[in-house]
Amino acid sequence: MMLKRLMAAAVLAAFAAGVAVAADEPQVLRQQMMKKIGGSMGAMGAIAKGEKPFDADVVKAALTTIEENARAFPDQFPAGTETGFETEASPKIWENMDDFKAEAAKLAEVAEAQLASMPVDQAGVGATLKAVGAVCGECHQSYRMKK
Ligand code: HEC
Repeated sequence: MMLKRLMAAAVLAAFAAGVAVAADEPQVLRQQMMKKIGGSMGAMGAIAKGEKPFDADVVKAALTTIEENARAFPDQFPAGTETGFETEASPKIWENMDDFKAEAAKLAEVAEAQLASMPVDQAGVGATLKAVGAVCGECHQSYRMKK
């Protein structure tokens, strides 16, 4: 009984350590950033489709999340993180790092511009989505591998 409990504790500790290490990996961090960006687009998409009422606070939070994560995103591609943790990053990123960084900066700038002009209704959020979404597609086309 005692031994069983000790073993369970050891397994749990090992598991926790493994999770802690994985959570710090750039591959994991950058996927989390993209998930946040995707979630923000989803929140604005619900407004654009009329599933949710227009809410300036939601739009502002979404655009801010996109801008902040887009700025931090290209720092998560140090050498040695080309593979692993189910990354979908294309090897082209490391061959064209400046261009890749410029794409991320572009996303941050588009989000910033939308924050400055802020949509005021459902149609406006639709236009915002289109402007921001164009940059997503551009970068994914070049630098995200389809699995
Ligand atoms: C600068 C290039 C770039 C831009 C701009 C960009 N992405 Fe990405 N995105 C990537 C790369 C690279 C990956 C793969 C990351 C990995 O797996 O390591 C990715 C992955 C994702 C993922 C999958 C995350 C996961 O669960 O693993 C989502 C969702 C996503 N992007 C949404 C978006 C949306 C929405 C936008 C626009 C608002 C956007 N991205 C803009 C490069 C970009």
